[in-house]
Amino acid sequence: MDRAIQVDLKPSFHISSAHSGEVLNRRESLRALGAFLAGSPLLAQQDPLRDHTRVPGLNELLTAFDFEAVAYTKQPRAVYDYRAYGSDSEFTLRRNREAFEWVELIPKRVVAGPVSTACEVFGTKMAFPLIVSPTAAHGELHPEGELATHKGALAAASTPMILSNNTSFPFDKVVAAAGSPMWVQLYPKQQLEANRSYLESAQAAGAKAVVVTIDQQVSYYERSLHDRNLNSSTRGSARGPGMRPTMGNPYRVADNRLWYEWKFFDEIRPFVKVPMIAKGVVTPEDAKLCLEHGVDGVYVSNHGGRSLDYGPSTLEVLPEIVDAVHGRVPVLFDSGIRRGSDILKALALGASAVCIGRVPLWGLGSFGAAGVQRVLEILQAELVQAMQYTGCTTLASVDRKMLLTNFP
Ligand SMILES: Cc1cc2nc3c(=O)[nH]c(=O)nc-3n(C[C@H](O)[C@H](O)[C@H](O)COP(=O)(O)O)c2cc1C
Repeated sequence: MDRAIQVDLKPSFHISSAHSGEVLNRRESLRALGAFLAGSPLLAQQDPLRDHTRVPGLNELLTAFDFEAVAYTKQPRAVYDYRAYGSDSEFTLRRNREAFEWVELIPKRVVAGPVSTACEVFGTKMAFPLIVSPTAAHGELHPEGELATHKGALAAASTPMILSNNTSFPFDKVVAAAGSPMWVQLYPKQQLEANRSYLESAQAAGAKAVVVTIDQQVSYYERSLHDRNLNSSTRGSARGPGMRPTMGNPYRVADNRLWYEWKFFDEIRPFVKVPMIAKGVVTPEDAKLCLEHGVDGVYVSNHGGRSLDYGPSTLEVLPEIVDAVHGRVPVLFDSGIRRGSDILKALALGASAVCIGRVPLWGLGSFGAAGVQRVLEILQAELVQAMQYTGCTTLASVDRKMLLTNFP
């Protein structure tokens, strides 16, 4: 062999140490590179499916969490992050999930018979006490946006859906594409007329209930700063140039959502001919004020940890709100539900039905309408299973006695 080539094939990949001046051989330098990478923060952000040779198919996904991993893989990072993040330090986002760990279900070891989950809330008949929460901009996750979400929800035992005020498709189009049951959500607008026209046209198109969101006054999602730095953001950073036109000040306080008073419900009541529900209640005092202002339903929610950070988890405050409402109106619940057993815990603490925000988005972002259908069906099946294990054959038999709560 030619000597020059022999030199090339020998361990010739040398790195000089800046400190000692010694020369590392190829093996040592690779080990040094490996050690460097292992300590690198870059690796903490890895794709959860990085060790897989393929993305799993729809039939292989067994829990809602599986759908999150697939949605993460299939969506651009900024699109995934917008759904995942919570406000500020994300304490409340984490606590929403943690709270379910502090509630245990008491098992019953005798087969109790077939389970019925049928119920009716605000005149809407449901096969399961499960509703799709209003969430914005489904078009970012799938070209058919809310049309696909509604299609999937309808296919999953006609699960009702609350259409967000910030959709990719208008309400009448979504209803026309898939039919009812459909409710509509409103973010209060300062111009009363703007509320009137939105609410009246939604009701004319078939909205069976109106959900008024009152908890999203100021929100700041710090992870979008990260997305801006990745240069892949579909949305501007809350502090960045993309958000500035909507802010009247440089402090990222969204001034269009800081103004409403309880009398807002009295003002819009004349335009609302269907049940009117207040979404975002986390204290018994506010629940009572809802009732004083003619609200037909209290919706316990902290916007999935996207409203006030360091506010309480919804599960922890649910019992005291249920006690304050005292059966006068139905109580809806969301924020943190990922499993059928979570649904059962919220029902046992007094919710009339629960809503889910991110879970159907993971379904939509992974497999479109089919993904929404499947992930809802998984939660429904898990609920039935949890009811069987706890000896409940009807929703009426679900109560606090079936729980051990260990809230701190
Ligand atoms: C991406 C995203 C968008 C949302 N958009 C809206 C909205 O437009 N209107 C609204 O009332 N709530 C909105 N929410 C809050 C949800 O309705 C719901 O309260 C929350 O997602 C429940 O928590 P979960 O995601 O843990 O189930 C949004 C939540 C997320 C995650």
